[in-house]
Amino acid sequence: MQVVKYMFQPHGDERGQLVSLEEYTDIPFTIKRVYFMYDTLQNVVRGKHAHKNLEQILFCVNGSCKVSLDNGKEKKVVNLEKPYEGLYIPGNMWREMYDFSEDAVLMVLASEIYNEEDYIRDYEEFLRFVQKE
Ligand code: TYD
Repeated sequence: MQVVKYMFQPHGDERGQLVSLEEYTDIPFTIKRVYFMYDTLQNVVRGKHAHKNLEQILFCVNGSCKVSLDNGKEKKVVNLEKPYEGLYIPGNMWREMYDFSEDAVLMVLASEIYNEEDYIRDYEEFLRFVQKE
């Protein structure tokens, strides 16, 4: 299973750092939605679902967290700890986000607006769904 983690080049100068993300140039889809999570409590595991079609890129723009990815056959754990690292998650991938630092801000760029029908929230159903593919 290939994990795609983009390392964007910050525009750094004596004032600090700036990261710019443009659809198609940097992000391989139209950005229809942005959401972010913060004040996540210790020991919380978020996500625990897959999407049928949605594509996303996750950035921990402050602090750090871990993301576990599972395509139904293989699992990989990715650390997000730099604001310029973007983890690409395609459709049909079970994801869990955990080990959030107290200051973690996890920002997600998504290819579609929120649609509950695109979610698979049951792990057994996810396994059945990917085996059909
Ligand atoms: P939830 O799906 O539980 O987040 P995660 O699974 O990624 O940990 O979402 C929490 C709440 O926010 C839930 O009531 C749905 C709502 N929500 C939106 O309204 N829009 C969105 O884009 C997202 C991701 C969630």
